[in-house]
Amino acid sequence: MNHQEWVRRRRALTREMGPGTLAILPGAHEKIRNRDVAYRFRQNSDFLYLTGFSEPDAVMVLVPGRPEGEYLLFVRPRDRLRETWTGRRLGPEGAIRELGADQAFPIGEIGQILPGLLEGAQRIYYTMGQNAEFDLEIMGWINRLRERSRQGVVPPETFVSLDPLIHEMRLFKSAAEVTEMRKAARISMAAHRRVMARIAPGLHEYDVEAEVLHTFASGGLEAAYGTIAGSGANACVLHYVDNRDLLCAGDLLLLDAGCESEGYASDITRTLPVTGTFTPEQRAIYDLVLAAQEAAIAVCRVGHHWNEPHETTVRVITQGLIRLGLLKGPLRELIRDRAYEVFYMHRAGHWLGLDVHDVGSYKVDGAWRELEPGMVLTVEPGIYIRPGLRGVPKRFQGIGVRIEDDVRVTRKDPDVLTAGLVKTASAIESVMQNRGH
Ligand code: GLY
Ligand code: MN
Ligand code: MN
Repeated sequence: MNHQEWVRRRRALTREMGPGTLAILPGAHEKIRNRDVAYRFRQNSDFLYLTGFSEPDAVMVLVPGRPEGEYLLFVRPRDRLRETWTGRRLGPEGAIRELGADQAFPIGEIGQILPGLLEGAQRIYYTMGQNAEFDLEIMGWINRLRERSRQGVVPPETFVSLDPLIHEMRLFKSAAEVTEMRKAARISMAAHRRVMARIAPGLHEYDVEAEVLHTFASGGLEAAYGTIAGSGANACVLHYVDNRDLLCAGDLLLLDAGCESEGYASDITRTLPVTGTFTPEQRAIYDLVLAAQEAAIAVCRVGHHWNEPHETTVRVITQGLIRLGLLKGPLRELIRDRAYEVFYMHRAGHWLGLDVHDVGSYKVDGAWRELEPGMVLTVEPGIYIRPGLRGVPKRFQGIGVRIEDDVRVTRKDPDVLTAGLVKTASAIESVMQNRGH
């Protein structure tokens, strides 16, 4: 992404903060997986959004209007020995040179430098409760300033959470962000296509995951979340990530998999017949979920609010379940009593961006938020009929279907970032039956 993108974001934030303020934003630390093995590092998304910096143990400070510079970074110092083991570090000079910081210091010096900056600010933007150790450190610095108030030191009076400001900005995706999301979508679609070309009875769910990760890695990207490859009744477990079981003829495979590009996620679900052909019951459920999804995508427009896609899926799914004889009663009452929740127990989607379940408020002043150009959301209704569900004919039991696409709200029609991936039952069957093996 172009350097100007981060400059623009920091400028927008400092403008919102106003004079006499200071923002503190710590980045993420490495997390231990077991003993001395760390998980692969992933930067905190807010920090990434404002700095583009993906090393651990850094802190960003913004001081609007400060003559010596508004943008400060505290980073890991250069260290020849450590860099030999774990790779290159940018260091303070690199942070100025490559990230455009006005000033940068080794992270170990933050305790000498930050208290002096706090002294000059009336209002501090900092989000408490995410990093207990750092919360205590900041409190310690503030208390020391308070102790010196008789010497004329004026400690900051107001603490404000920084999250809402950044999260409101992150909700609206710029052209550069949409470019990254399209790239993530492109590679994620390729992963789903690879699976469609290869699944067959006798493979395992982990083989499916392997195909997905192969595509992500060979595109230079990483998974944005744990791949869900649930076959048969495993498709009814919403966050199934064990991916251990055998794919059997006659089963469906629910595949929820997406990668991230520069941190921007894609989130796609397709549900495929393992043999390439849906049974009549699978097809009936599939077509119903698809009808709900398409009706919901159609209302991802300016002039509709956040909850309308969800309400649409509830209406279409409840009607369809009545038609199939799986729900009995008047439509209005079944919706009012949420009878559909036995089959459809999650919401129709979420904001999508640097986090797969992205930030941004869903309500404003108690009312569902209006959809606006630049917002990106998923639309992902599902129907899950767990085995043994009472009152349901046996032939429907164990069927789980979800269909998920990523949708950008524009001034005109919804822009489906993942529209290039086949979705109707007949198109999926046709792709799978023409695989040539
Ligand atoms: N992949 C997580 C979700 O669909 O929300
Ligand atoms: Mn999702
Ligand atoms: Mn998903």
